[in-house]
Amino acid sequence: MRCSRVLIIGASLLMLNPFSACSKSNTKNVPETKALPENKTVTQVKAVSPEVKKAKLVYSKMSGRFKNDIQFKDDAEIESFIADLNEILEEEKTFPENDVSLFYLIDKKHNIGSDYVPAELIPVKQCSLFNVSRNDLSLRKEAYDALKVLSEAALADGIKLMVSSTYRSYTYQTGLFNRYVAQDGVELAERYSARPGTSQHQLGVAVDFGSITDDWGDTKMGKWVYENAAKYGWSLSFPREYEDVTGYMWECWHFRYIGVKACRFQEKWFNNIQQYMLEFINEWNLTE
Ligand code: DAL
Ligand code: ZN
Repeated sequence: MRCSRVLIIGASLLMLNPFSACSKSNTKNVPETKALPENKTVTQVKAVSPEVKKAKLVYSKMSGRFKNDIQFKDDAEIESFIADLNEILEEEKTFPENDVSLFYLIDKKHNIGSDYVPAELIPVKQCSLFNVSRNDLSLRKEAYDALKVLSEAALADGIKLMVSSTYRSYTYQTGLFNRYVAQDGVELAERYSARPGTSQHQLGVAVDFGSITDDWGDTKMGKWVYENAAKYGWSLSFPREYEDVTGYMWECWHFRYIGVKACRFQEKWFNNIQQYMLEFINEWNLTE
């Protein structure tokens, strides 16, 4: 499922970092000399668009692992990336104005605070489409609608999804985190539980499926969700071996709704790592 494009491009390719070495194909402000028929020469400067410059600036602010994992071979590839990014940003403009973006970055460094509650929460009740493990679940409307679509697709393949955790208030997350700290100590608890204000669950767009244990990933349901979630806009938030990037151990059960287009964009340009994509979009939106 993970994009292999970057691996194919390999280590020889240019990084977006403006300070990285140039390759033959990188024409960034480099005068090109062309021979004319009369043996005269003319100097052409290929201009770098402001958006390519901005992409390089944003890229330069990303982490070391991001830059190691995500590379672009030349300015033409950056332009192609920007065309896709602009589609995502256009979609972002269509999200309801009374709530945060579906691409909102919430993580260990970005705390949304105790006051945030999604504008509209829809109860998630046991029904013909999916099972629930408790009766007080709810989701933001876009995520609820997308859960129904995902569940219909799963049902068509003979699987009824089990929804185990959805929206969690700041207060609920506080109790949960404190309970885990009491149980396992703060150092370990922080590796699998978000501090209040930093959980995707507070946004009402994340769902934990099934048993919320590692072995769920090997069940029929777990495998189906892993293989199919992105087709319906659901993205695995904490993939295996990315704890240094996401801040959390692998969680095969935790998916965030970001939409179908963003899932494709994430797969095409960000090695299918949600955190990389959301960090980049966040920084892009903050940069002039
Ligand atoms: N388990 C995830 C990181 C959360 O608490 O939101
Ligand atoms: Zn979760």
